[in-house]
Amino acid sequence: MRKNIIAGNWKMNKVLSEADQFIEEVAKKVPNNNNVEAIVCAPFLFLPSLVEKAKGSNVKIGAQNMHYEENGAYTGEVSPVMLKDVGVTHVVIGHSERREYFAETNESVNKKTHAAFKHGLIPIVCVGETLEQREANETMHHVETQITKALVDLTDDQVANTIIAYEPIWAIGTGKTASSADANEVCTHIRNVIKNVTNEEIAQKVIIQYGGSVKPENVEELLEQSDIDGALVGGASLKAESFLTLVEAGT
Ligand code: G3P
Repeated sequence: MRKNIIAGNWKMNKVLSEADQFIEEVAKKVPNNNNVEAIVCAPFLFLPSLVEKAKGSNVKIGAQNMHYEENGAYTGEVSPVMLKDVGVTHVVIGHSERREYFAETNESVNKKTHAAFKHGLIPIVCVGETLEQREANETMHHVETQITKALVDLTDDQVANTIIAYEPIWAIGTGKTASSADANEVCTHIRNVIKNVTNEEIAQKVIIQYGGSVKPENVEELLEQSDIDGALVGGASLKAESFLTLVEAGT
């Protein structure tokens, strides 16, 4: 009953001409299929152009971060109002790189998630453990804390519309993928945590993506898992052909 959502996270890559070239090719070729949704999460500078070029296709455009305030004296920041105004539909919140390098906390993730819904954006909330936490058997507890704190004071309807991305930090950009069974085990736990803060019906609606070295060679096995409903993809989303293969796998 849940569709697959394949989201590319370009991180700090490409220049505008490369972004435009990518979207022109992908918008033409992306499958128009109700079982799958494709999202490209790009640097802020490229967003208006990507939105324009993706019009009429099955590709949505997302940002990789935002501030939770609407406007004001926050030098260098971009607000949800600005994203909405240019036609962005999704925003990645709490990516591990932002938690690690830019002091993102569970509290700011919660504020940003509220701000996203207030302004009509769909949040893609990222959670995941470090290698040390995995080896110390702390994965489930850590992810549970991140999820519970991210969802504080959201309505059931908002929770149902939140996309969760489970990204084990040790699998990001390393070529190491969690085995599909391990990834699914954590995604099932996440769904149970969501059930505990809402109810079974809401939990069954939530899209839970896996992220961490997803590529054309491993995507199908990951998507076959019971609680994995798509992927948040870094490196393998940068080339149009590879991104299209991933989206195709979600159909
Ligand atoms: O958000 C996507 C991500 O962090 C995974 O990156 O390069 O391992 O697919 P990558």
